[in-house]
Amino acid sequence: MKKILKYILLVLVVGLVVIQFINRPERINEPVTDNDLIETLQVNAQMTDFLKSACYDCHSNQPRYPWYASIAPFSWSIAEHIEHGREELNFSEWATYSARRRDHKLEEMVEEVEEGHMPLPGYLWLHSDAKITEERLEMLKTWVEQERAKISQEAN
Ligand code: HEC
Repeated sequence: MKKILKYILLVLVVGLVVIQFINRPERINEPVTDNDLIETLQVNAQMTDFLKSACYDCHSNQPRYPWYASIAPFSWSIAEHIEHGREELNFSEWATYSARRRDHKLEEMVEEVEEGHMPLPGYLWLHSDAKITEERLEMLKTWVEQERAKISQEAN
């Protein structure tokens, strides 16, 4: 029995080592441009802090990578979240979105956070500074309302 356990452990360790060489996802780190949401909308310090600590790691071109982002299989999962997150909503490209799309994404931001879908649960588990407090949710709602009102004025 002991022998089998040792063997299984060895296979696992060797497997972990081997997968490190399979695929090393490229890291995203592009300079901040004028298209960024925080720049474009002159987002206040508190909202900026919230967005950067809870959303920008998957929804911008400047994700912060934790140490385990270098280790497969975490590196794969992180790269996938960043890829899909940015596909749906990239705050770094905010100014390039149409008014309709911006309005819709703002609406969805509140929905996703309120329903507990965003930030992704696994991310929250590892990032205590991304926690959604009652205060943050209220702040997000107020901010989104203001920004949506501006968009509807812009459209008229
Ligand atoms: C760990 C990565 C991660 C973090 C952190 C994260 N998201 Fe996401 N987000 C995703 C992924 C992946 C998707 C696309 C797939 C999905 O909807 O689950 C997504 C989708 C979305 C969508 C689009 C839904 C749609 O259908 O158009 C919104 C809006 C969103 N996120 C808002 C946020 C907000 C706001 C925050 C911060 C409070 C946040 N996300 C934090 C990964 C993340």
